[in-house]
Amino acid sequence: MELRHLRYFVTVVEEQSISKAAEKLCIAQPPLSRQIQKLEEELDIQLFERGTRPVKVTEAGLFFYEHAVQILTHAAQASSMAKRIATVSHTVRIGYVGSLLYGLLPEIIYLFRQKNPEIHIELIECGTKDQIDALKQGKIDLGFGRLKISDPAIRRIVLRKERLKLAIHKNHHLNKFIDSGIYLSQIVDEPILLYPLSQKPNFSTFIQSIFTDLGLMPSKFSETREIQLAMGLVAAGEGICIVPESALDIGMKNLMYLPILDADAYSPISLAIRNMDHSNYIPKILGCIQEVFAAQNITPLMD
Ligand code: BEZ
Repeated sequence: MELRHLRYFVTVVEEQSISKAAEKLCIAQPPLSRQIQKLEEELDIQLFERGTRPVKVTEAGLFFYEHAVQILTHAAQASSMAKRIATVSHTVRIGYVGSLLYGLLPEIIYLFRQKNPEIHIELIECGTKDQIDALKQGKIDLGFGRLKISDPAIRRIVLRKERLKLAIHKNHHLNKFIDSGIYLSQIVDEPILLYPLSQKPNFSTFIQSIFTDLGLMPSKFSETREIQLAMGLVAAGEGICIVPESALDIGMKNLMYLPILDADAYSPISLAIRNMDHSNYIPKILGCIQEVFAAQNITPLMD
């Protein structure tokens, strides 16, 4: 069975007509009918009901259709990924979530540039979920993000876990917890600002899942476009927000940051790459990450 036979079959199912499918595939109708017939013989199953118009797929045919679509999608992704790997030697495109710019990402990329002046780097801001699609389509080569995402085409390397802090206005009534720290169960009645407004799952859904996993249901969540806006609104007295520790470097005026005492209040920082991508820029960037971590006395989680 060839991929082209799957494409013929999928097109007939989607067009519900041999003649329309033949037109779309730019082939004549009789050879298309013959190929479908040969496919049925090869599989030894009836894929279409006989004598129906529009053409109707059988139950087994529908099952086969769903798998055929997946096979064609994987084949297309494998081809875009391989094309990208073949052309990547001089340009590496790096996707990143915005909040990582307040942490160590700029230092890591700066070091990577110094050590590899022959490599041109393009930086593309995009959410962790979008990075997975962009890696598969060959639009980026490395993705720095904060979410756990499982996809068979992608390998995710957890680099470190960053503690989360609670940002409040310095005059907020919770400011008495600055030294002792606070549990998330103590803030369920506060208005909590979430961010960003990007494609979900994102950091906003991640924060909500930390509450849910603890059996907590805060009553007043609202979403803002990005972390600086959320922190600005906290400074304006609109509510409170949970931020990665590195966001303290944003230096928003009149804010105070409380330690969060729940053990799971951390944000994993990870690097996503294409599964089975053995390009040489991958060990190079991992080397830079290890060097920056060592200078900051951070124990890396990756091998
Ligand atoms: C960090 O801010 O800790 C970080 C950012 C990107 C990659 C690794 C670590």
